[in-house]
Amino acid sequence: MPEKRQFRAIRGTRDILPPESSLWNWFEQTAREVFESYNFREIRLPIFEDTELFARSIGIETDVVSKEMYTFGDRDESSLTLRPEATASVCRAYIEHNMHALPGNAKLYYIGPMFRRERPQKGRYRQFYQIGAEVLGQSDSPAIDAEVLEMLIAFFNRVGLTRTTLYINSIGDKNCRPAYVELLRAELQRVKAQLGHDSQRRIETNPLRVLDSKIPEEQPIIEKLPRISGHLCDACREHFAKLKEELNLRGMKYEENWRLVRGLDYYTRTTFEVTAEGLGSQNAVCGGGRYDGLVELLGGPPTKGIGFAIGSDRSILSIQEGGNAPPPPALSVYIAWMGQKTYRAAVSIARKLRAANLTVELPPEEMKFKKSLGLADKLGARYALILGEDETASNTYTLKRLSDAAQKTLTENELLEYLESERRGTRA
Ligand code: HAM
Repeated sequence: MPEKRQFRAIRGTRDILPPESSLWNWFEQTAREVFESYNFREIRLPIFEDTELFARSIGIETDVVSKEMYTFGDRDESSLTLRPEATASVCRAYIEHNMHALPGNAKLYYIGPMFRRERPQKGRYRQFYQIGAEVLGQSDSPAIDAEVLEMLIAFFNRVGLTRTTLYINSIGDKNCRPAYVELLRAELQRVKAQLGHDSQRRIETNPLRVLDSKIPEEQPIIEKLPRISGHLCDACREHFAKLKEELNLRGMKYEENWRLVRGLDYYTRTTFEVTAEGLGSQNAVCGGGRYDGLVELLGGPPTKGIGFAIGSDRSILSIQEGGNAPPPPALSVYIAWMGQKTYRAAVSIARKLRAANLTVELPPEEMKFKKSLGLADKLGARYALILGEDETASNTYTLKRLSDAAQKTLTENELLEYLESERRGTRA
């Protein structure tokens, strides 16, 4: 006999079960509504792409590409990767479909799973979910950066994620950043002996990432390093100043954080992150920034870009912990029927109530009323619709409100009218 193995979800992945899945649907639906009000439209992207697409855009020295990608050989020996993020895919699609020829900027959003082989912990998964938005086109106006941030915060407000902080920074561009990175590298070489292994390695591979370090002993050293704000070229300094003006114009609160460099190589100028309270160390609920030049790096025309990705897992966790989650939709009507003759009437009324947008449970098998009503209660139904021989004979329905056992006898029209008005008024 083969051993009967019990399968479990792979480490770092999980099932999202009801009623929590309703919360996810509401969260994603709200994003659609808010983003569409800013004239963004959805793009649906493949889950896997050519490995080289991610290596080239995110950067081969980054943690994501060097350690965390799920990469596999296809049967034709090409190398494929489960997407660790979607900005690279959006740029690939922008080029592939000649979107630069469309009028105005391309304003796109996406919702879906991403894959990174990180160490799982609270708020960190190997299959996690993002809601992202990207603007691609010819303009790099800071008004675009500000509008993207306004939309992001409008969404967080709409879903009750209000205990958040928005951090912004500018990391310069190809004109001014190289000189700053060299200066930083030289400074880091001087203090190398006082740094941990990871930071020592990064002096060579990517000195900016040292600024990201959370290691307590390194903090006083990092605080004394030269800051990029003093080394931006005029164009980048002006862009950052304008961004802040645009944010002020919108009455938005933000904090500047000179150490916000982000873990992906494609950023230029504006970078930002939103953190939420109550999440522990994995408290970034959104990250993003400007990536002018990425489309060109991937073989497309010169293009400016900016966007963000919200981590849905963490955001939803924070909403739940803040006690702001809306209640899951309730079961409106449970149909308690008895007698094979009444079954026909039960099927018919169930269909009519569902057509009127009510949530209806019709038990597939006959049960004694007592058992049926007990189940209605356990399922959290608002009403039980009682259908027995008497009701079928008189063409009426007995509607019982389960919270207080109040009962009414109604004709079909009265019943539909009553439940519909209830639904409109009280989400019956
Ligand atoms: P990111 O900062 O790598 O940026 O990810 C964005 C958000 O995804 C994070 O702030 C976090 O909330 C969530 N996230 C990342 N990794 C995990 C994980 N292992 N488990 C749970 N949540 C996670 C990007 O992905 C960029 N593509 C954002 C962007 C769009 N930049 C410009 N446009």
